[in-house]
Amino acid sequence: MKLFLDSANRKEIEKYLATGLVDGVTTNPSLLSAQGQNTKEVILDILRMVPGDVSIEVVEKAPDAVYTQAHQIAKLGDNAVVKIPFAFEYLPVIAKLVGDGVKLNITLVFNLLQALMVAKLGVTYISPFIGRLDDIGADGMVLIEDLVTLKDQYDFPVEILAASIRHVMHWERAALLGADVATVPPAIIEAACKHPLTESGIKKFDEDWKKLGKQNLLD
Ligand code: E4P
Repeated sequence: MKLFLDSANRKEIEKYLATGLVDGVTTNPSLLSAQGQNTKEVILDILRMVPGDVSIEVVEKAPDAVYTQAHQIAKLGDNAVVKIPFAFEYLPVIAKLVGDGVKLNITLVFNLLQALMVAKLGVTYISPFIGRLDDIGADGMVLIEDLVTLKDQYDFPVEILAASIRHVMHWERAALLGADVATVPPAIIEAACKHPLTESGIKKFDEDWKKLGKQNLLD
C-alpha cells in the first residue's frame, strides 16, 4: 500500500519524507490556504521536494476554466497530479484531460457510481472521503470495500486513494480492505507509531541495561 502525506506544509513534508515511507503528497485548497498567500511558491517547492505524485486541486469553477487550470497545474512538474472535484458538468472536461494525458485525482467522491463513472473515463486516482462520510452517520469504510470490489471486478487501472482519514483505524481498515493508497495527515502517522507497550518495553530494557553499569554494549 502506498502512503501519501495529506499536507501542504513544507516543514511537515520534509520531516515525513525523511522516514522513507512517503510515496506522494495530497493537498487541497483548505490545506494550501493555511500556508499563506504564496501559493505558487509552496506548490513548486512541494513538487520539487517530493519524488512521487503530488495532487493539486483546481480552484476554478466553470468547466472551461477548470480545463485550462488543469493544464497549467500539470505543466508545473512531471509529478503534478490534477485534483478535480466530482461533478456531472466536469465529466466532459475529465474525459478530455485524460485524452490529453493529464494525470487526474477525482476528489470528493462519496458513492460507488461517482467512482464508476470516473474509473470508466480512465482517471489515475479516485479519492473516497472516509471521515466526511462518517461525519454524516454513514460508514466510509463500506465505500472503500465496495470500490475495491468494483475495481477488481472490472479490472479498472485506477488507484483507490483512501482520503479524509481521521484516525488510525481508518488507515488500518483501508490497508486491510486493499485500498491502493492512503493519504494520511501527519498527526495520524505519529499516533500509529505509538503504543504504550512499546514505550514501557523500551523503558524496562533501558533500566535493566543500566543495572549492568557498562558504558558500551560491544566493549
Ligand atoms: C485529501 O486528498 C483530502 O483533501 C483530505 O484527506 C480531506 O480530509 P478532511 O475530510 O479531513 O478535510
